[in-house]
Formats: sequence, structure tokens, C-alpha cells
Amino acid sequence: MDLKNTRINYTKNEINYNDIYDNPFEFFVEWINEAFLNNCLEPNSFVLSTIEDNIPTSRVVLLKNIDHDGFVFYTNYDSSKSKHILINNNVSLNFFWPELEKQVRVIGAAYKINDNVSDEYFASRPKESQLGAILSEQSKKIDFNYDFNSKLIMLQEKYKNKDIKRPLNWGGFKVIPTKIEFWQGRPSRLHDRLLYKFKEGKWDKSRLSP
Ligand SMILES: Cc1cc2nc3c(=O)[nH]c(=O)nc-3n(C[C@H](O)[C@H](O)[C@H](O)COP(=O)(O)O)c2cc1C
Repeated sequence: MDLKNTRINYTKNEINYNDIYDNPFEFFVEWINEAFLNNCLEPNSFVLSTIEDNIPTSRVVLLKNIDHDGFVFYTNYDSSKSKHILINNNVSLNFFWPELEKQVRVIGAAYKINDNVSDEYFASRPKESQLGAILSEQSKKIDFNYDFNSKLIMLQEKYKNKDIKRPLNWGGFKVIPTKIEFWQGRPSRLHDRLLYKFKEGKWDKSRLSP
């Protein structure tokens, strides 16, 4: 496979540095909306990197809320990622929308959100997803012949016509960013980069070389 000669010249858009938001969340909302409008695949997915014993590790999760001050995702609190966060809550997020030639990089700290907010979101999920959250001891080793289906059928029976309460080991984290970088692909690899850094209560903006 010849990877050396595969390349795309990015031409779709640019960052207009003469007209940029003071608040990066407003810019982020504009970009993620554009990703939804353009039918990007899983537009709210991002790569979440955590640290374990000084070693970074990454996986994809889904953004479920954008607050005025942070990015919320949901997971199992006993999973590997959650264990990492509980020891070292410095995380990095990476959103990539290839169809738009856009990337957003976030550095911040992750905090467990209030139980009542997780309860509300859990209650809004389809029943199948709720049962999946109950069944999965995320990141644990399981037997190769472990049978989820029979367990799922038993749970479906148990919770037939009943509401399912959020398992206490499942809920959200909010990532409060200190840095957010917007990257727009440009021709000749001369890409546009706009970095927001949170300093002394406000967002400082700078342009970075590609
Ligand atoms: C598109 C996509 C979306 C995902 N969304 C989530 C999610 O929102 N929450 C989650 O815990 N895992 C999600 N996963 C699974 C994670 O990538 C990962 O496999 C899982 O969380 C276990 O990670 P860990 O062992 O590092 O904790 C998603 C995977 C993909 C590919």
C-alpha cells in the first residue's frame, strides 16, 4: 500500500482572523453545527486522551452537551478512562471533521458532573442503551464465550414496562478547557490555526504557524 503518495489539498474554507469570536465556545458551536448540517459521520464524536502512569491513551467518545464552560461526555465510572481521570484529570480532546477539513483540539481538566444531571440524561436514553449500560462492566476482562444476549433477554424481561434507574457507576464528566485550538486545512499545507488560551479569567487569542 502506497501511503506516501496519498494526499488531499485542503481548499474548503479558511479562518477569517479579522472576524473571530472572543469566546471559543461560540466558535465551537458554529463548527459542530456545520458538521451536523454537512452530515459528517458522528459529528459529535471526539478522541479523548487520558494519562495512565505518564503514558497517554486515547479512545473515541461522544459529546453530549456543550455548556458555557465545558464539554460533557458520558461513560462508565469504573472504566479505564474514568480510573485515569480520577487519578489525573488532565485530558485532551480532539474533534476531526474530515469532510470540512477542520480539527479542534482541547486541553482541559475533567470533573464528574452532578448525579441529577446524569440521571436526567440516562432517563432520556433508549431502553436498549440503558440496559447496555447496566450489562457492561466497561474495560473489564471477560470470557471469550461470554454471552451478553442471554443476559440482555433476562434484563429485558425484568424491566418490561418498568423505568430503569441509572447505575451509580455510569455518568458524565465535564471537561473544562484551558486551551482550545481551531484548525482549518488550507492549500499547500499552509493551514489556519487559531489558539484560545484561558488566562486570568479571559480568553486570549493567537494565530499559530501551520
Ligand atoms: C463512535 C464511537 C463513540 C463512542 N462513544 C462512547 C461514549 O460516549 N462513551 C464511552 O464510554 N465509550 C464510547 N465509545 C467506546 C470507547 O471508544 C471505548 O472503547 C470505551 O469507552 C472503553 O474505553 P476505556 O477502556 O479506555 O475506558 C465510543 C466508540 C466509538 C467508536
